[in-house]
Amino acid sequence: MITFNQKTRIFHLSTSQMSYVMQVLPSGHLTHLYWGDELKDAALDYLITEIKRASYVADTDGIKEFKLERLPIEYPAYGNSDLRKPAFVLEHADGSNISDFRYVDFEIQPKLLKPNNLPSLVDEKGETLIITLIDNVKQLKMQQYYGLNHQTAALVRFVTIENIGIESIQISELSSACVQIDNTNQQLLHFSGGWAREMQFQQSELTQNGQIIESLRGQSSHEHQPFIALADSQFNENYGEIRAMSLIYSGDFRASVTMEMHDALRMQIGLNPAQFSWRLEAGEKFETPAALLVYAKNGLHEMGQIFRTSHQRFLVRGNHQWQERPILINSWEAFYFDLEEARLLDFAKESADLGIELFVLDDGWFGRRDNASSSLGDWQVNLRKFPNGLGSFSQKIKAMGLKFGLWVEPEMISPDSLLYQQHPEWVLGTPGRQHSLSRDQWVLDLTNPDVCDYLVETFMTIFKEAGVDYVKWDFNRSLTEIGSQFLPKFRQRETAHRYILGLYDVVERLTSAFPDVLFENCAGGGGRFDAGLTYYMPQTWTSDDTDAIERLSIQEGTSMLYPSASMGCHVSASPNHQNGRLTSLKTRGIVAMQGNFGYELDILALTIEEKEIIRQQIKFYKQIRQTIQFGELYRLKTAQRENAKAWLYVSADFQEVVVSYVQILSRANTPSKRLCLTGIDSDCYYQIAGTDVIRRGDELMQIGLAINDVKHDFFAQTWYLIRQSENKKRN
Ligand code: DGJ
Repeated sequence: MITFNQKTRIFHLSTSQMSYVMQVLPSGHLTHLYWGDELKDAALDYLITEIKRASYVADTDGIKEFKLERLPIEYPAYGNSDLRKPAFVLEHADGSNISDFRYVDFEIQPKLLKPNNLPSLVDEKGETLIITLIDNVKQLKMQQYYGLNHQTAALVRFVTIENIGIESIQISELSSACVQIDNTNQQLLHFSGGWAREMQFQQSELTQNGQIIESLRGQSSHEHQPFIALADSQFNENYGEIRAMSLIYSGDFRASVTMEMHDALRMQIGLNPAQFSWRLEAGEKFETPAALLVYAKNGLHEMGQIFRTSHQRFLVRGNHQWQERPILINSWEAFYFDLEEARLLDFAKESADLGIELFVLDDGWFGRRDNASSSLGDWQVNLRKFPNGLGSFSQKIKAMGLKFGLWVEPEMISPDSLLYQQHPEWVLGTPGRQHSLSRDQWVLDLTNPDVCDYLVETFMTIFKEAGVDYVKWDFNRSLTEIGSQFLPKFRQRETAHRYILGLYDVVERLTSAFPDVLFENCAGGGGRFDAGLTYYMPQTWTSDDTDAIERLSIQEGTSMLYPSASMGCHVSASPNHQNGRLTSLKTRGIVAMQGNFGYELDILALTIEEKEIIRQQIKFYKQIRQTIQFGELYRLKTAQRENAKAWLYVSADFQEVVVSYVQILSRANTPSKRLCLTGIDSDCYYQIAGTDVIRRGDELMQIGLAINDVKHDFFAQTWYLIRQSENKKRN
């Protein structure tokens, strides 16, 4: 519910799990009073008057002791007596950076609103508070949007600025959200990493230095997830308050937390000002990407549950949202660029025989692409590899009972391509400057609508002709020396953001033209595993690291924010191609069954015994698929802190439970091990599928399941538990 008390001028946004409270001061400044567990009334008008901080700074509006720097300002401006980090900076025609927005009015809309041209949660049952503020001196209108999703207790924030004056301005910085939080012993949480090492969960102490989590790569990046959180320093899986923000965006971002001299914390997230500014002409409006704010009262599990549910239920859209995802085989780690129709058909036939449902033709099928050095942009099938064309190949695949999937990397262009000869001006960059190659490729200028139209037309044709059921949309380099030959010089610093707007336009048009096609997002693995692209493509290739053991922490981090039905996880060869590690097929299978399951190895080269293991894995995954993809996740052991990882999924109807355990290194003289469960019903009985064993839920939680083997590195075990009907108990 959203309420406004006319007398105290207090806004109260509440769900059964959370309250967010703001107050408009007599001066028109909007202050932040509270964000935490639900308050029934939130009559917090005493709060501001009780602030007793000494302050060294100046008075505001000529009122003695009215000091902005003492106050929890909701969305602080640059250019007044609050000298802490501002949430936005505008540059006016007279060269000044001073802004002063005061409250004008508000409205409440009976649905969750989103920015017009950017992704965000969609919820017809939500509510949105829109607060309007005006800078009278410069005739600028700011609107703060607070969307409330009652079902998950998540809050969606974004900001618009409208130029209602006659002079243009330059937006130098405009956060999507900012909150002030008292420093009651908080820790910073975030996810960092690199290529093939994405989403490593991090926690660190706060200091008065301030901390920044950001991407300047033109993509949300492998390096940092657009996410930041403050947690009670005692937090764990089920304890401690956490306040988190993520940005529903796929480009450069900056999240920061600053601690001011009186210890209060300001946490913000938004576009990265280091690679952004925007000319706003008279009459124009600018909207920021949306930020998702999550408050969890009881630790990491609750936080993860709110993010996963918000993403799966309110961000993912389309026909595939709740559809079970097919088990796939991908040609990449099996053959790389060395594609040949006859061999691929044998490979597909063997796959179909083992129970695989989708065949994915990865990189190497087009142009003269025998390695990464050419042909991006020349999206014609290579007739040497596929003599009868892609349509004919796809039909043969489908005749085997498989679906057909295709890899593409539309945003890229190779210097060695016909497209580059025709359109050198379509390359992103600045004339006269170096255009750095990465993986021998450049990026197309998606700020240019002609390029976007060309991509939509080209890929419409390819998808139609090839009869695709699935598309893997890849993106294999960061943006460097960012500039556009299409944009005028005063808009060059808009390039990175306009690029993402162009990308969203292209993928919106293509995904809505092919509603039955399953799109998988990829950027050299998880380089753009973000909420922005999750709005368009319901699943993402989690990482190029397919090693089962390294995948433990990558999948663990990813699954803290994203639903399992969004994570691509494949069984690949051993020794692993990325790190040479040897693991059993069983362990690789159990780890890959944490998400959308698939294979990425040459099954033609496997032994009969190995193929039989694969056949059984596929049979088992089909039984547990609904529970894994759409059930609730509980983490039992975390790879980062323990020498093992274990997790559990409970089906939406609570009838089925899948438990998985992976030991990392074995140790000599290890005692017997057990694994205690959580998230199940303590009063119910569960049968371990494939056995006669029936155990009561309380025993499974307190005493646990026995681990079969303590003596082998990378040993893995999985259990499938079926809840027994009320009267069926233990023999
Ligand atoms: C990077 C992807 O993450 C891989 O899975 C594969 O598709 C290659 N690109 C192909 O170039």
